[in-house]
Amino acid sequence: MYIGLVEGSRLAELLAVTVAPRGRSKALASALRSLIVDGRLLYGDRVPPERVLASALGVARSTVTAAFDQLRGEGYLMGRQGSGTFVAVPVAANGGRPDEEKGVGDPAIDLTVAALPAPPALAEAAAAAAEALVGHLASNGLQPAGLLELRTEVAQRYCERGLPTGADQILITAGALHAWDLLLRTFARPGAVVVTELPTYPGVIDAALAHRARLRALPVDEGGWHPEEIDFSRAPVLAHVTFDGQNPTGGWADASTRNRVVSAFDSSTVVVVDETMIDYPHSDQARQAITRPRPGQPTVVLVGSASKSFWAGLRIGWMRAPASVVQRVVAVRAGQDLAPAALNQLVVVELLQRHGEIFPQRRSMIVARAGVLLTALARHCPDWRIIPPRGGLAAWVDLRGGSSTQLAIEARDRGIRITPGPRFTHTGTHDGWLRLPFVLPQELLIEAVDGLADSAHSLQPARTRRHPTAATAWTA
Ligand SMILES: Cc1ncc(COP(=O)(O)O)c(C=O)c1O
Repeated sequence: MYIGLVEGSRLAELLAVTVAPRGRSKALASALRSLIVDGRLLYGDRVPPERVLASALGVARSTVTAAFDQLRGEGYLMGRQGSGTFVAVPVAANGGRPDEEKGVGDPAIDLTVAALPAPPALAEAAAAAAEALVGHLASNGLQPAGLLELRTEVAQRYCERGLPTGADQILITAGALHAWDLLLRTFARPGAVVVTELPTYPGVIDAALAHRARLRALPVDEGGWHPEEIDFSRAPVLAHVTFDGQNPTGGWADASTRNRVVSAFDSSTVVVVDETMIDYPHSDQARQAITRPRPGQPTVVLVGSASKSFWAGLRIGWMRAPASVVQRVVAVRAGQDLAPAALNQLVVVELLQRHGEIFPQRRSMIVARAGVLLTALARHCPDWRIIPPRGGLAAWVDLRGGSSTQLAIEARDRGIRITPGPRFTHTGTHDGWLRLPFVLPQELLIEAVDGLADSAHSLQPARTRRHPTAATAWTA
């Protein structure tokens, strides 16, 4: 949670960027909805009383009352004046996404997710896995560290990358995020200091905050990773880094950067290197580097996933750690999900065996889509500064004084969904930045850029006239 206890002044600060240009109840409702939808206000958060928010925003109380009424009607708020008003999640009767609004640009172009549909080989792999499952049916199917077949296959991949690894060093999880969650459970007591990149993948932040960790930033920008800026006044127990296709900046660290970042920590920190995007370097040069655990340095845990490489719906990931760490995490897991799903693991065994055949095609498709997105942005949004991604599935764009929160609200009305920059931070900063995934087909990417350019254009006069310093209002 970014706001914690939602105080009137803090909420007003977040809303200042979005409400002021229009200042009416619909705009306020839209801005609040946006904070709920992108996760900066969480389910159950108590919002300030109408009177308090109205005075913090400098608007009439009736404006706030009308906005709250609208959001209660839509299911984004619950409770009444007097007994407290809380953030809620609308129940979509049709099973759709809660944040889908009827009549708003149908169907929406969703640029909030950086994940691909399954490759054609997945259906064949699933059929082969169903046959292989027969061999497991006489057992209870529960292997807390994962099936030996998959651990062996994953270990083999590390060996091929030049990192000798045994199956006892591998733990299979329900995705990379689950691996991070298990490591938090194992190493981070409530109040412990945890370092995460700033900006980073939102799930990494949410999981750490759910464990009541105190977050410290490892700043990342187009110049790379800046470990010298980490606040080491209290020793971190864990650090999370993504050297390979950094999400959202698209960075890819060379060997010396990896070494510089890892060796900034001492042996009291477990450094978790999340390689979720490892299969998407945009050049052969980027592909070479691997984060190599070294004697005398902190413990390094490598985390991998089938989600980006194959299909997120499989919910299979893994960690590579010293066998003693694997054993500790397995013990923690016993109180959580017991073991990963057997059938899905067998599907991933099949897919890993066909990796060399699946990947070249998938990677070239992504590099081509990245090119289409960057070209369209350069043509239609020439004021923006695009950081060319070295890897991964998204580009990080500097809106040069624009607000990605405002843009998200405006674009939504045109049927385009984007995630504003602050969602990638634990500090509420980076509103001047936008992450744009390039996983959709080329024609949709071009249409999306068109819509974003129109949205930015319609915001421009309001921003320059009334909000010249909007982006700085986020700095916490
Ligand atoms: C760095 C990073 N870690 C974890 C995840 C989630 O991965 P999984 O689906 O394997 O849990 C993502 C998804 O984008 C990611 O970018």
